Amino acid sequence: MTTPNSFLPILLFTAFLLSPSQASNIDPKCDVPESGSTLQVLHVNSPCSPFRPQKQPSWEESVLKMQSDDTTRLLFLSNLVAGRSVAPVASGRGILQTPTYIVRARVGTPPQTFLMAVDNSNDAAWLPCSGCTGCASTTFASDKSASFKTLGCKASQCKQVAHQTTCTATACSFNTTYGSSSIAANLSQDSLKLATDVIPGYTFGCIQKTTGGSVPPQGLLGLGRGPLSLLSQTQSLYRSTFSYCLPSFKSLNFSGSLRLGPVQPVRMKFTQLLRNPSRSSLYYVNLVAIKVGRKIVDIPASALAFDATNGAGTIIDSGTVFTRLVEPAYIAVRNEFRRRMGKAAVVSSLGGFDTCYSVPITIPTITFMFKGINMTLPQDNFLIHSASSSITCLAMAASPNNVNSVLNVIASMQQQNLRVLFDVPNSKLGMARETCT
Ligand SMILES: *[C@@H]1O[C@H](CO)[C@@H](O)[C@H](O)[C@H]1NC(C)=O
Ligand SMILES: *[C@@H]1O[C@H](CO)[C@@H](O)[C@H](O)[C@H]1NC(C)=O
Ligand SMILES: *[C@@H]1O[C@H](CO)[C@@H](O)[C@H](O)[C@H]1NC(C)=O
Ligand SMILES: *[C@@H]1O[C@H](CO)[C@@H](O)[C@H](O)[C@H]1NC(C)=O
Repeated sequence: MTTPNSFLPILLFTAFLLSPSQASNIDPKCDVPESGSTLQVLHVNSPCSPFRPQKQPSWEESVLKMQSDDTTRLLFLSNLVAGRSVAPVASGRGILQTPTYIVRARVGTPPQTFLMAVDNSNDAAWLPCSGCTGCASTTFASDKSASFKTLGCKASQCKQVAHQTTCTATACSFNTTYGSSSIAANLSQDSLKLATDVIPGYTFGCIQKTTGGSVPPQGLLGLGRGPLSLLSQTQSLYRSTFSYCLPSFKSLNFSGSLRLGPVQPVRMKFTQLLRNPSRSSLYYVNLVAIKVGRKIVDIPASALAFDATNGAGTIIDSGTVFTRLVEPAYIAVRNEFRRRMGKAAVVSSLGGFDTCYSVPITIPTITFMFKGINMTLPQDNFLIHSASSSITCLAMAASPNNVNSVLNVIASMQQQNLRVLFDVPNSKLGMARETCT
């Protein structure tokens, strides 16, 4: 059983921001050697992360913060789905899309180390570069790297940039947004070292200017599958295949792994990975039903159906914390949950969570049924406990109520202690239980 306190660490992780003054290198005792093609994945709030909050917010503050980050994330994803190229850039602080997981990457010759955010729904790779206006203090000193080069407008990669580019005398430049931030970068190349693999001539955006607070302070390593993504650039090495095991929310050490390449566990269950040609960075799967306990809840098929024309369906995302279901699906799950709780009254809501109790929860599992995989969540993957008020909430919510809420997002809390394999060439998504710590 989970003691109320054991959940506390997760609740702090997105908390209050990545201070610009933090140093690049992680604590030497956390600097475990990585071997082969497997990277250690840290939570931004891990004791080993330089981005963990200095001041611990209250439980309620943390949950509300995570929900608000998720709302921004959902907005970003629905804009992507709707085919709008950029998410609206919010002004000022407050709306932020902080990264949840970071990995170590070494860039340049000699290598400079960065803790880059991983995001499986994004294709981008960018790093804050020296001289950047608005970046955190840790930047890539391109002038200190013998292998660095800026790509000009004639480079073939310049045409693959998903955003409008402009040509300066020396550089192919582009502007983009991430969360509430805007980014101006030059397309560049340098060698990238992940665990023990070296990827020469890796193309990324060298950030020259940024505004807002959402840019991961030491860069982004997108695991989407569009042009210029890590997967596209390393096809011969990794064959567009990777898996991750996201660290348990309960562990103080918050360490999981990202395994790149075709050497993957064999004992997995598989479901088809669907592709929306116009949203190539998103990993869609076919969610066919949801069980609460042993009961399959009654969800209209249209709420789950994949539709490449309007982007509807279900994605597996590492950047959203709590699963969001389109309203009819969420209402069906929540109503069955409440029915099973019987006389115990719903005690309260907490921000976007509307199903909270002060008595022990009797629902043992919730299962997402994909064709080929029953993803059965133990309680730790769908309940969130308050340490201070002994309240437990169902940690899922309805998609934000806007015109684009057609997307179901299976989020990171629901994926913890699970190895999730993305096998793009074979259009397969695999899952296996694993303790990630
Ligand atoms: C956390 O990791 C350190 C080494 O990095 C280890 O000594 C310690 O036992 C770990 N703690 C937990 C709770 O796993
Ligand atoms: C990018 O933004 C800068 C201002 O920050 C502007 O001068 C430049 O023209 C923009 N480039 C593109 C490609 O829109
Ligand atoms: C990057 O682009 C800016 C203009 O957008 C230019 O001033 C700067 O020199 C470029 N940096 C490099 C390394 O080419
Ligand atoms: C999932 O569970 C259902 C019963 O609820 C069962 O009929 C089905 O075969 C299971 N699927 C897999 C892939 O295990």
